[in-house]
Amino acid sequence: MDNKKRKSYFIQTFGCQMNERDSEVLAGMLEKMGYQQTSELEQADLILFNTCCVREKAENKVLSYLGELKDLKSRNPELIIGVCGCMVQQKGMAETIRRSAPHVELLFGTHNIHQLPDLIENILASREPQISIWESEGQVLENLPSQREFPFKALVNITYGCNNFCTYCIVPYVRGRERSRLPEHILEEIKNLVADGVVEVMLLGQNVNSYGKDLENIKIDFADLLEQVNQIEGLKRIRYMTSHPRDFNDKLIQTIAKCEKVCKHFHLPVQAGSNKILQKMNRGYTREQYLQLVEQIRKYHPDAVITTDIIVGFPGETEEDFQQTLDLVEKVRFDGAFTFIYSPRTGTPAARFKEQIDSEVKKERIQRLNDLVNKIGKEINEKYLNKTVEVLVEGTSKTNAEMLSGKTEGNKTVIFPGDSSLTGKFVEVVIEEPQTWILKGKIKGNIK
Ligand code: SAH
Ligand code: SF4
Ligand code: F3S
Repeated sequence: MDNKKRKSYFIQTFGCQMNERDSEVLAGMLEKMGYQQTSELEQADLILFNTCCVREKAENKVLSYLGELKDLKSRNPELIIGVCGCMVQQKGMAETIRRSAPHVELLFGTHNIHQLPDLIENILASREPQISIWESEGQVLENLPSQREFPFKALVNITYGCNNFCTYCIVPYVRGRERSRLPEHILEEIKNLVADGVVEVMLLGQNVNSYGKDLENIKIDFADLLEQVNQIEGLKRIRYMTSHPRDFNDKLIQTIAKCEKVCKHFHLPVQAGSNKILQKMNRGYTREQYLQLVEQIRKYHPDAVITTDIIVGFPGETEEDFQQTLDLVEKVRFDGAFTFIYSPRTGTPAARFKEQIDSEVKKERIQRLNDLVNKIGKEINEKYLNKTVEVLVEGTSKTNAEMLSGKTEGNKTVIFPGDSSLTGKFVEVVIEEPQTWILKGKIKGNIK
């Protein structure tokens, strides 16, 4: 096909890896329809926002970006502007978006992304807005096309949805009940990816270690799945996201020790350090159990990189409760943490809890927490000085085009001089300048 005549699409993804993966599928379907990707908003025939609603900030960003597209649409009436993803899946949100941004003509939810081609065809044929939101999840669909973001690493869904209902979280409402993919589908997909040049996979689920619980007639858990993925020849690294501390048992810790390809990076969202708050969050573990889990992980994996997510300002969080969070951070000494200010989400129990925390108090707490997290992160990174780490090169650094950027097994970002032809390869890098967020170094050699 003549390239100039091909229609082009622009997808912007908000939110987590689930959405990133969905965007790859959306892009795959569009490519199959003959569209090509563009990074220029002005040139696109189709603009699609794949949205997140985990915090209010994420939603506000989308609404303000949508406002900015109004002019573009009036200059180019043929332009199709679509919004999909978690935000749209919330009750009444599609109508709200249509009211505030009538130039949005395409709206669909998280359960029916496979309908994108049909919805576009309908718009092109009728010029009528298309709004299609399924109230609940359908069957897991296999073999949808996909346009991967990276040639050398890939996101692989293992479960969809979440059954945990943490009281602050909107995800179970917008992603539906937990459904596991069949192991043979996962393994086949990964084998095909490896044949296509992929060396690292990230197994995706809101709670990966509950994998398999819903599969009838098959007895398999996340540890078993890891063992099987570990056997795939040619695959070098296995990551997973996210694991829940409550379900992280000894079998899994020991399996990870046995599986040489599974990265010794443990992202274990703790959320809070006070038992009172953990209980109100419905997290299903105590601070003592969490600390015990960390101890157990360090027993088997003394060099483990441990990271976490923390929420400050959950309803009812007193200064003493917050001190318990700081204390837990001091005790565990996380390599890093994603920290969030609690954001009430309509429809979740915690949004209705009394004792919502004042926004000034929340801001002050997150500042204190970040200072501590950063101080510890820097101290841990300083131990990497003069050490050699194995890095999977991801490409040129976003902040400095002369430098390459890559990731260690522990998911630490390493920046070093080198040629972009090394992208997708493993190199050994000596760390010369450890910083809070990144490690800077130079290639030692031994390119694999
Ligand atoms: N399934 C994953 C994470 C999903 S959301 C897990 O359970 O760990 C990613 C992170 O966003 C959560 O770990 C939590 O720290 C944060 N988060 C979720 N809902 C939030 C809310 N209402 N306000 C602030 N942070 C929230
Ligand atoms: Fe949300 Fe909890 Fe499910 Fe994670 S485990 S997606 S925080 S409900
Ligand atoms: Fe956001 Fe949906 Fe992920 S709400 S965090 S994009 S599952």
